[in-house]
Amino acid sequence: MNATESFLSTLLATPAEAAAPLVQLNNVHLAFGDNQVLQGIDVEVRRGQAVSIIGPSGSGKSTILRCITGLLRPQSGAITVGETRVDALRTEAELIALRKRVGFVFQQYNLFPHLTVLQNLVIAPTRVIGRDHATAERDARALLDKVRLGHKADAYPGELSGGQQQRVAIARALAMRPELILFDEVTSALDPETVGEVLTVIRDLVDDGMTCVLVTHEMRFAEEISDQVYFTEAGRIVEHGPVSQIFGQPRSERTRAFLQRALGNGPRTPRHPLSIDRLSTPT
Ligand SMILES: Nc1ncnc2c1ncn2[C@@H]1O[C@H](COP(=O)(O)OP(=O)(O)OP(=O)(O)O)[C@@H](O)[C@H]1O
Ligand SMILES: [Mg+2]
Repeated sequence: MNATESFLSTLLATPAEAAAPLVQLNNVHLAFGDNQVLQGIDVEVRRGQAVSIIGPSGSGKSTILRCITGLLRPQSGAITVGETRVDALRTEAELIALRKRVGFVFQQYNLFPHLTVLQNLVIAPTRVIGRDHATAERDARALLDKVRLGHKADAYPGELSGGQQQRVAIARALAMRPELILFDEVTSALDPETVGEVLTVIRDLVDDGMTCVLVTHEMRFAEEISDQVYFTEAGRIVEHGPVSQIFGQPRSERTRAFLQRALGNGPRTPRHPLSIDRLSTPT
């Protein structure tokens, strides 16, 4: 096992852990004023699974992710991550402890512009969880190789393309060695030609067994990589199930209509649309 493989293996679940749900939302209700945004959400994510949440704009997808990280507190219902009752956390220290375990990557990558790529990856592990600098730097280099940006370690974010910055943001989330990682529309701000390289990195993480929850409008990608899919509409889960059911034989007419609109008649994504060779070429 080389250094990269050995580090990545620390991110993966043991067989015993894989049996229990890592994330559970039970009957979660959340309102902003009069706006009932989540109206009884049930979601379950097992270790090592890739779960996609799809649905129309405003249906509550981002709100679900923000509840899982404790950024939003529901009015009722239960949220657990591992043994932690997220909805019961009260202190900032408890919330920070949770966020060390749950990686979150958004549309905006928010890298520190005055730090190099490597420094962006080292700062949180050393400052927030007190990892020694040499270990943090070794992890960071392994992760940059993983997202095929080892050659950009000393570059500044402003010198990278949007797709490269988003791959750094994914590596930065992984640098905390999270138990799971949440992706919220991570490709929607990117130029079409850089979307594929970010999806390839996420696909690799899923193939490695990282627990991932994805909110995405990339339906073909969701279809290709997900184990389970949840379809949300107006704050409710209309339907959920294995990817073959949701995309192949949706039970709800609403799911069917949404997917028909979202997918059109476009071609299915090939299993590996971008070759690793192409991505590993310094750009
Ligand atoms: N901080 C907030 N304050 C008030 N209302 C909010 C807030 N965040 C979200 N909402 C409302 O909650 C509803 C769900 O928003 P959410 O962002 O979860 O939708 P979404 O499914 O992620 O949509 P999109 O696909 O457009 O990202 C919307 O009606 C939105 O206006
Ligand atoms: Mg959203």
